[in-house]
Amino acid sequence: MHALKTSLAGTYAARHAVALLACVALLGATAGAAHAEQKFGFGHPVTPEEIVAWDINVFADGRNLPDGSGTVTQGGAIYAQQCASCHGSKGEGGSGDKLVGGIGKLASGKPVKTVGSYWPYAPTLFDYIRRAMPLTAPQSLNNEQVYAVTAYLLHLNGLVEQDARLDAKSLAAIKMPNRDGFVPDPRPDVPQTPGSTDKPASDKTATQSQ
Ligand code: HEC
Repeated sequence: MHALKTSLAGTYAARHAVALLACVALLGATAGAAHAEQKFGFGHPVTPEEIVAWDINVFADGRNLPDGSGTVTQGGAIYAQQCASCHGSKGEGGSGDKLVGGIGKLASGKPVKTVGSYWPYAPTLFDYIRRAMPLTAPQSLNNEQVYAVTAYLLHLNGLVEQDARLDAKSLAAIKMPNRDGFVPDPRPDVPQTPGSTDKPASDKTATQSQ
């Protein structure tokens, strides 16, 4: 899971870099791109459609969640077809991670880290699935399907009812069991903000990246 957090943080950083590049490209579009096309014969101004396709970040508090919704029942059918082969029919794990269980056991001798026991925010689950799953066909699910399968996984973890339908508002309202389980790392040489090189600990409040 540490690897996941790191890679998510990396992905976000990369996305921001791309967004920044896109802005720079747009700003320079008139002069720069025309010049580049002339001089090197490649490149084109970034179109609004291309920016929309990259701009899929969903934030921990639910900002940027799309319209649409999905139910636990719909999610169960999608999960059986597209996820169970790797994650097990009830999320118990297989070639892919275990996705269910372990709630309340993180502090035990044998912590089990799953979506239910470890992830602090539910909107991150939507972001991750939409961005990365199924492993062999990332970004092939539409928003409704992602809402549905997210709802199903939360249901398997006992966090929403069998008849639940989730949308942007209800997903962001879910309080994950481990929301308050992350604590600042007090070691003086550990930056408290992901990616920052400055200051330790004592005079700052830690922030989480997801
Ligand atoms: C071909 C196998 C495969 C399929 C199919 C697949 N996954 Fe995964 N999944 C993985 C693997 C492998 C990982 C671990 C990836 C990593 O850590 O980079 C993973 C990770 C995840 C995680 C993160 C778990 C964690 O706690 O870190 C979630 C959530 C998830 N998958 C959901 C889904 C959903 C939902 C589907 C179906 C829409 C799906 N997966 C389909 C293989 C698969």
